[in-house]
Amino acid sequence: MSDNKSNAVSKCRVCGAGIAAFMSFGRMPIANGFLRAEEIADEYFFELAPAFCESCTMFQIVEQPDPKKMFHENYAFFSSTSRHMQTHFAGFAKAVIDKHLSGRKDPFVVELGSNDGIMLRNFHALGMRHLGIEPSVNVADVARGHGINTISEFFGPQLADKVVAEYGQADVIQCANVMCHIPDLPGVAAGVTRLLKPDGVFIFEDPYLGAMIEKTSYDQIYDEHVFIFSVTNVARAFALHGLELVDAEPQTTHGGSMRYTLAPKGSRTVSANVATLLQKERGQGLDRPEIYAQFKRNCEKSRTDLMSLLEDLRRQGKRVVGYGATSKSTTVTNYCGITPQHVEFISDTTPIKQGKLSPGAHIPVKPYAEFERAFPDYALLFAWNHATEIREKEQAFIAAGGRWITFVPDVKIVS
Ligand code: TMP
Ligand code: ZN
Repeated sequence: MSDNKSNAVSKCRVCGAGIAAFMSFGRMPIANGFLRAEEIADEYFFELAPAFCESCTMFQIVEQPDPKKMFHENYAFFSSTSRHMQTHFAGFAKAVIDKHLSGRKDPFVVELGSNDGIMLRNFHALGMRHLGIEPSVNVADVARGHGINTISEFFGPQLADKVVAEYGQADVIQCANVMCHIPDLPGVAAGVTRLLKPDGVFIFEDPYLGAMIEKTSYDQIYDEHVFIFSVTNVARAFALHGLELVDAEPQTTHGGSMRYTLAPKGSRTVSANVATLLQKERGQGLDRPEIYAQFKRNCEKSRTDLMSLLEDLRRQGKRVVGYGATSKSTTVTNYCGITPQHVEFISDTTPIKQGKLSPGAHIPVKPYAEFERAFPDYALLFAWNHATEIREKEQAFIAAGGRWITFVPDVKIVS
């Protein structure tokens, strides 16, 4: 274990009020830190512990590793691995074009955290002016290889000014599964207000707190997800920077996400969705601490149920394989204490994860061909957010007598 200077905060990153963790998932490695056996001695750990700000309602992790340990030249996450995500982003791009860009003269679209260009390729294909801002060089290189205009830097007010000087202000700034990664939300908000045209919109989507609480999908909490957003906390956080939440639309991706549209205050009519969802969240209790105490108990039950099932199967000599070496699975394996004695290996289609060990739990990651070669008795569905796509294509596994183990919303065996 490497030396770990704690980056724990005691003040809310959004509003500055005092915060304290309401639970801990324990000692946690970098979620995407797949490693070789010889790297185990230097593996980096931090304490994964979430807090709820009683002042502005923001849900956030207290300690976050240095971003350079997470988003670097070997970043293991390529957005385009999933077919469904490609379709989803094509739909996102179409909605942006139809609602916000059609009829505009020579519009300019900026994406923060553009990854391998999965979303911007839809704008590029139409010959639209675009810019991707992606700090992870290896994924940005893939985007550039597809002709997507991309720079590899971290976004903030200074970079915003540089982009304005070179390209002018943006009609749309968008991002998906990125805002929740950036601890300096005030810095991004300040950058957005400088880069955005007065009649422009800032649109982002991220895993949704309401869905996470409802389903006990605690695996949304890992190093990269410094915030988990709700309609309530997004509206409050960006209002501090003159941006008004004008729409919020639930999405099915990542096990339940929300797409937020923000605009300079007073520049747009606010959709009725906003008031409806705010009321729903008050009903669910997302703006009060009690729900998080309940969430903690639900996480503990989920862990007990999953481990007693895996222990039973191990005693019976059953073969269990993990399906999808997702970032989320790092929280599950380390919080629950899953070892290679419980899960023989994790099947994953991403080449740079294969042949490595999963972070912390050190379960071998193997190519999909290994899963197909000899189907296990059970497959632990770590990629549960892709369940529909996966269960559709894995009928041969079921036909061979295989069964799925899922743990969201409850631990159970399904065929
Ligand atoms: P994500 O849940 O963070 O999108 O990560 C999905 C991971 O699961 C990624 O490493 C690819 C892997 N995966 C498979 O191995 N097989 C599949 O069918 C799908 C959908 C994902
Ligand atoms: Zn706060």
